[in-house]
Amino acid sequence: MFDKSPICLRIDHLHPDVTSEIVDARGGHARVADDLLRTGRCRGAAFTGWLEPDRILAPDELVRLRNAIARLRNDTDILLVIGIGGSYLGARAVIEALAEDPERVVYAGTNLSASYLTRLRSRLEGKRVAIKMVSKSGTTIEPSIAFRLLRDLAGGSAARIVATTDAEKGALRQLATKEGYETFAVPRDIGGRYSVLSAAGLLPIAYAGVDIDELVRGASDCAELCTNSDPLHNPALFYAVARNILYEQGFVIELLASFEPRLHYFAEWWKQLFGESHGKERIGLFPASADYTTDLHSLGQYVQQGRRILFETFLVIDGGEPSVRIGSSADDTDGLNYLSGREMSYVNRTAYEATAEAHRDGGVPNMTILLRQLDAYALGALIYFFEYACAVGGLMLGVNPFDQPGVEAYKKNMFELLGKPGCESRPADRSKPEYVCF
Ligand code: PA5
Repeated sequence: MFDKSPICLRIDHLHPDVTSEIVDARGGHARVADDLLRTGRCRGAAFTGWLEPDRILAPDELVRLRNAIARLRNDTDILLVIGIGGSYLGARAVIEALAEDPERVVYAGTNLSASYLTRLRSRLEGKRVAIKMVSKSGTTIEPSIAFRLLRDLAGGSAARIVATTDAEKGALRQLATKEGYETFAVPRDIGGRYSVLSAAGLLPIAYAGVDIDELVRGASDCAELCTNSDPLHNPALFYAVARNILYEQGFVIELLASFEPRLHYFAEWWKQLFGESHGKERIGLFPASADYTTDLHSLGQYVQQGRRILFETFLVIDGGEPSVRIGSSADDTDGLNYLSGREMSYVNRTAYEATAEAHRDGGVPNMTILLRQLDAYALGALIYFFEYACAVGGLMLGVNPFDQPGVEAYKKNMFELLGKPGCESRPADRSKPEYVCF
């Protein structure tokens, strides 16, 4: 089943909405988008630095990153990552999936909740904390506030703070220079949501003890695979074409569903990647996610019998899971003896098979991305798989998959309302809040 790649696509539950023949017929369109991307002639071409994962970090920067991590891991108990959106989600996705002790990394700057910050502070009291502040622009309000409020947790030691930001400009770059923090650059040619394999993601991932060489190796091997511009020989291109065909048929929501809780944050990263990249100019699939089997007991009802506007992409781990066998019981009061001797991974796999079939029968086309096993190499490959599919798929839709102009709208209003200097002018027609209280 798995040939050169650690990932493999299962497509029979897409039939009859999508078949290999239908995808093949779109080959020309896919090839044009792929060519525009690779030759730097696509929309947003200035942000394609992620295309070659092993060239994102220069060798001397990688050495400096490793040294910084060795020092921080030795001197501290916990890493506090402060950043939002693409600046933190990729790191969290990998850490939650692979780290032996994901609790050693905590997060702030992902919301504006006073309660969240208060609880976090009391949780970190008395611990030796390192802080990684990451903001490409250096001006994003959520992480900036969190950093101002929490940086004392580093115990007044500039050596315990690392900043990842633009190489030259921005408020964070200025602050880091003034305070003497060690810094790493987010490359100019890589946007936040494509930055997980830059220092933005690799630094916290390495702190959590995950093998970053394997992660990058997996991504690079997948990049090699993705150089084939035929969708029938390039799984990411196949996926990109298939989801666009389903979108045209009225399946406007893609539900990424995994049967492994460790992949919860991977789905959060994926939602941001596709949501920000494709959701513009009044088009684009809405990316949603579910954790199965948990959500089969809630959202599962809608998926099976609600409006027929969604399709599913399953993430399934094929092997390598720990052995947990179900024992037998003398009286079999719980009626589970028919499973005695079975592995939990077998039961979980059966739940996936059953779900995929039931949902297909209920009118929900689905495909499955199988991972040979959940390790750094496979996850690196999966990251690249989605980045590439997202870029080419967006270009096929006709949008710029590397910008996010819509994100500015709420910021503009908020800065006006907060009275940020230079942003005070409020439009006269802003509606007054109307409440109905009972
Ligand atoms: O993908 C993106 O570009 C965004 O999600 C950004 O990463 C996010 O808005 C944070 O921006 P910054 O790193 O400038 O603070």
